[in-house]
Amino acid sequence: MTELSGIAGRQPVVDLRSDTVTKPTPAMRAAILDAEVGDDVYGEDPTVAALEAKVADLFGFEAALFVPTGVMANHIALRTLLRPGSELIADADAHILAHEDAGLAWHGGIQTRTTLTPEGLLSPDDVSRLIRPHSPHTLGTTAVELENTHNRGGGSVYSIEHLRAIREIADAHRISVHIDGARIWNAHVATGTPLREYGAVADTISVCLSKGLGAPVGSVALLAPERRAEAVLMRHRLGGGWRQAGILAAAGIYALDHHIARLAEDHANARLLAASLQSAGLSARAPQTNIVLVDVPDAPAVAARAAEQNVRVSAFGPALLRLVTHLDVTEKDCLLAAEVLARVA
Ligand SMILES: Cc1ncc(COP(=O)(O)O)c(C=O)c1O
Repeated sequence: MTELSGIAGRQPVVDLRSDTVTKPTPAMRAAILDAEVGDDVYGEDPTVAALEAKVADLFGFEAALFVPTGVMANHIALRTLLRPGSELIADADAHILAHEDAGLAWHGGIQTRTTLTPEGLLSPDDVSRLIRPHSPHTLGTTAVELENTHNRGGGSVYSIEHLRAIREIADAHRISVHIDGARIWNAHVATGTPLREYGAVADTISVCLSKGLGAPVGSVALLAPERRAEAVLMRHRLGGGWRQAGILAAAGIYALDHHIARLAEDHANARLLAASLQSAGLSARAPQTNIVLVDVPDAPAVAARAAEQNVRVSAFGPALLRLVTHLDVTEKDCLLAAEVLARVA
């Protein structure tokens, strides 16, 4: 909860629009202040190097690249797998399709083949059905993308067994697997699956430090070491060559050391929020992690009325709200938000 001083005086604001709205904690700011830095375009920032090594090690990868955003991490990782004019399988509601401004098509010439799935999760059967062979008549599939947790699916989680089954199909067809792991930390905490097990089923992974982990900026692309130089070039071409980025990497390292286990609190708060909304008669879906979806007749109108009462939520569709719990939201905030939403919905 933050205090806003406005016309109506100081009043609490509960911001559930996204887990990206968190502000760095004092301890994280201290880590930023102490960061040793250098020019990362020259490959001379020791804190960036330390962050990349740390994330690579967590997932059992040999190479990593620190980039400004999750969109760029997805883009660069996928471009190391797919040449222009190749085909990627993804669920129709994937972040790469719904919220990345056609970047894969625009910059990468990548075609996607999709299907709508429950909670955004592709089943092994979906993947088998969507794979096309390379032939004179069909382009053929090169890779499959899986979002874990799934944003539009309401923070839904792939079990490791499910991921392994898809990996087996991918291997049988010699196609690659990319995981959009912007919130893979939430999946890890919700299921207890070791991060290395996610690493073992993917050719590339993107992870975000700026969502549930509470860093101000930054994502990491995990990829094959022989493709890293190409990934660095691509980042530069996209305008993502950054200089003393160790300032930001220090926040990422702090977040990895201190903010993973506490995601369980966000999940508990999401369950509390959903239960409170349900008790008030609202149609909140049961959350698996830190995202609560609520079906309402007119989402933009409800979001606007809630904002007037200092509760910020996202209209995620004409009749769908998204509420996300995070580091800056308490149990009390969730109860307050549920009370306000029950009044204005
Ligand atoms: C699943 C998923 N992937 C990727 C991204 C992109 O991250 P960024 O906003 O840092 O570009 C987001 C952002 O919300 C996301 O939810």
